[in-house]
Amino acid sequence: MKEKSKGISLNYLSDYYDTITPAEGSRFRRKQISLINLREGEKVLDVGCGTGALSILAKLSVGDTGEVEGVDIAPKMIAKAQKKARGSDLRISFRAASIDELPYPDGYFDVVVSSMMFHHLPVDIKKKGLKEIYRVLKKEGRFFLSDFCSPHYLTIPLMYLMFIWISSTRYQLFGKLPTLIKKSGFRTVRLAKKGFFLEYYLITKD
Ligand SMILES: C[S@@+](CC[C@H](N)C(=O)[O-])C[C@H]1O[C@@H](n2cnc3c(N)ncnc32)[C@H](O)[C@@H]1O
Repeated sequence: MKEKSKGISLNYLSDYYDTITPAEGSRFRRKQISLINLREGEKVLDVGCGTGALSILAKLSVGDTGEVEGVDIAPKMIAKAQKKARGSDLRISFRAASIDELPYPDGYFDVVVSSMMFHHLPVDIKKKGLKEIYRVLKKEGRFFLSDFCSPHYLTIPLMYLMFIWISSTRYQLFGKLPTLIKKSGFRTVRLAKKGFFLEYYLITKD
């Protein structure tokens, strides 16, 4: 029997991903990291970390006393992330794992971040993944999500044209993801910023 997909892996894109997406020093990444507002010493998990751009900025924010872990379903993206972190002399632990089976104990992280990855997940994995994020967060933990959640009115035609065909993404064109997050037990789900393509949510566990 064919195994059900856990998400759209970007293994095939690992060699080119950094040339087609915003790098660590870009305005986009700086905006993301400033919204997350990390503190020194915090423990951070980047789910669907890709080549680790946000993980690297997170490590620079939490410093030597903090800890950053990154997981991605695509082993080749993980290899790229490891190489970049080593090249920048940063201690970040990257592992190949899926969001629905996070290899960490309950209540381990202060902050979980997820950038542009939820639209890669089938709906059942979105639900399981949210439960896992809830589980690995500390009681007072925070969750930062940036993804397509409901398009800006100026980009609706383009977004619908690009994404309506893919069921995991279609789900997120109609504002359903914030509701799903709330249903997964998180206490507050606050829209921190709405861009032309992505929304940025700050979510608290308890
Ligand atoms: C568009 S990329 C975003 C990467 C990175 N977060 C960023 O901001 O550039 C989405 C990533 O999610 C990963 N992914 C897809 N399904 C996943 C799953 N079930 N668990 C963990 N990662 C997954 C893909 O392999 C890909 O690297």
